[in-house]
Amino acid sequence: MIYFDNAATSRPKPNEVIEAFNYYITEVGTSPGRGSYGLAIQASRMLYQARNTVARFFSISDPSNVVFTKNSTEAINLFLNGYLSVGDHVLISPYEHNAVLRPLETLKNKGVIEYTVLPKEVIDGKEEIDKHARPTTSLLILTLASNLTGQIVFSPKLVEAAHSLGIPVLVDASQGAGKKLIDMEKNGIDFLAFTGHKDLLALPGVGGLLSQKALRIAPLIQGGTGIHGESYVNPQAFPDAYEAGTLNMPAIWALKASLEYLEAHLDSITSKETELIRYFFERLEPIKEVTIYNKQYERVPTFCFNIKDIPSSTVVEMLSKQQICVRGGIHCAIKAHEAIGTVGTGAVRVSLNYTNTKKEIDEFINIIKEAI
Ligand SMILES: Cc1ncc(COP(=O)(O)O)c(C=O)c1O
Repeated sequence: MIYFDNAATSRPKPNEVIEAFNYYITEVGTSPGRGSYGLAIQASRMLYQARNTVARFFSISDPSNVVFTKNSTEAINLFLNGYLSVGDHVLISPYEHNAVLRPLETLKNKGVIEYTVLPKEVIDGKEEIDKHARPTTSLLILTLASNLTGQIVFSPKLVEAAHSLGIPVLVDASQGAGKKLIDMEKNGIDFLAFTGHKDLLALPGVGGLLSQKALRIAPLIQGGTGIHGESYVNPQAFPDAYEAGTLNMPAIWALKASLEYLEAHLDSITSKETELIRYFFERLEPIKEVTIYNKQYERVPTFCFNIKDIPSSTVVEMLSKQQICVRGGIHCAIKAHEAIGTVGTGAVRVSLNYTNTKKEIDEFINIIKEAI
């Protein structure tokens, strides 16, 4: 089996991640903030250590500005529903995932906000952001990398341009966070959402919302926080106010291990992936029946293409029969398809990571050639 769907969920996970998960469930197995006996206190300490590691990884100075959620979808929903208010206007890149688009569209349909999808030209640096900003614009949202084309969308220049107009920036780092070190402080990123199970090499069930300054927005959900149980609503204690319900501590502990793994191995991961990007292009580009939609080398190792006018679902099925896992269709990114002109056809997506090999790419290319 060849796994080329790392943009959906990365696999396999590093041994360190599996060991941390096993350690937590076998040796600790309790929940933070839910008791005063030794093991519960140990769980709280481990949560604190994990928060510190996340803060260090993304470069924010205060670990209490790390809110754990179950994934980036929840983090983005928490942020948009709490932060935006009636009359606000939001700018988004054309590469945003449904995790951004759908909460915004829902708020728009309720009459709360309006939003504008920026043209591709702004992201390519060929047009100015202020053409699309309004006096009511209160947020710019940028994905770190496109989950469809692998293009790096976030750029410090766009952040600067937004800030010069007084507009804060939310980065959706679901794609690319483990591949490109993202320094929130240096890049002036105000808010960031991440998910553990993709490029961060951790498990499903953990993500987070980070902010440079203390968040003071309404929580998305109400419930038990382990503190101030006498209060009828979530306490004004942060980040606890946003983390009602029992946290997925085994996944949080495994996330700490994955971030440490990435910190230790980022250079070798980057050089392996850069080599695979080059090789993938070297093998796929000469096939004239194939249209590749983003040919930049400066990217994450996610590629999207079509073969002649064959529906992407047919290509995916054919590869699946040969034990090659890739994805077709729209990939929860309809605006990105509008931007690259593939709404009608969808596209085949291959997403590699450092665990893939040139031999796997060769096998994939041979099957594609046979199919043409
Ligand atoms: C760019 C982007 N944002 C958000 C998400 C949502 O991630 P999750 O399902 O882990 O919340 C994805 C998942 O594919 C994504 O690619």
